Amino acid sequence: MTRCGQPNDPPISMTNKTQPQPSSELCAALAAAHAGARILSEYFADLAAAGIRTKQKGEQYQGIVTQADIEAEHAIVAEIKKAFPGHQFLGEEEHSAKPDADHLWVIDPLDGTNNFAHNIPHFAVSVAYYCNGEPQCGVVLDPSRGDTFTAEQGRGAWWNGERVEVNQHATLPETMIAAGFYYDRGPMMKATLAAIEELFEQNIHGIRRFGTAALDLVQVGLGRFGGYFEYKLSPWDFAAARIFLTEAGGKITTCKGEPLTLTTSTVLASNSLLHQPMLEIVKKHADF
Ligand code: IPD
Ligand code: CA
Ligand code: CA
Repeated sequence: MTRCGQPNDPPISMTNKTQPQPSSELCAALAAAHAGARILSEYFADLAAAGIRTKQKGEQYQGIVTQADIEAEHAIVAEIKKAFPGHQFLGEEEHSAKPDADHLWVIDPLDGTNNFAHNIPHFAVSVAYYCNGEPQCGVVLDPSRGDTFTAEQGRGAWWNGERVEVNQHATLPETMIAAGFYYDRGPMMKATLAAIEELFEQNIHGIRRFGTAALDLVQVGLGRFGGYFEYKLSPWDFAAARIFLTEAGGKITTCKGEPLTLTTSTVLASNSLLHQPMLEIVKKHADF
């Protein structure tokens, strides 16, 4: 079994408010995510300008979005390789290492592609490091707001250097829920709508669908949402944000309550207290 990278400090308690020294893996993840974000921000500005000036058609936007996506992934991988040349990569665009690789980096260079393509400033870069299949550290960047979300196993969840925790909502009528829709427009979409209807019947405050899974998960960790579910996510969508969420005191499983692995699956995330009531609803509709 390969030895995993050791963070510099021992695990911290929930009351610790000072961000521990980052491990070398977290430093690399941060540098890499910023390199990706710089590329996305440039392309996003170009898209906005093109939209105003020439009102280009959808297909023309799509080409630029794909270019931004691929360039950002290359920049992220290049940055990590500077520090860890022997490590492997699982990225949405062009890297396909096996999920059980000893030292694995899981990357979504652009999460929220549809927002990006429509000039909506709500997208993210997501970079996570796993060792022997176990989550070690993760970074989610929101370039539009300048927000950095980081977490390392046993060292808390940090938002721009501030320690954060999930909310303490214990019942569904106290809380706001987020959901995601995969690109499917058939049975999966209907199942999602049916689960949302049932959640509304429980008198939740509302449903939000922001279109960037990594930021949806992060926002459960920030205490804005009591829970989030989606019937199909890929490992790069949740690899980094799941570490942030669990370090913030949240819980994440499949929509059937099984442990999450680095494979494409359903995802249910919560503040922990709402996991069971949400699971009862989302599980009922998960066979489609
Ligand atoms: C998508 C976003 C979206 C979620 C989709 C994902 P992409 O990722 O995270 O919020 O609903 O299921 O595929 O395609 O923008 O990287
Ligand atoms: Ca994604
Ligand atoms: Ca993506």
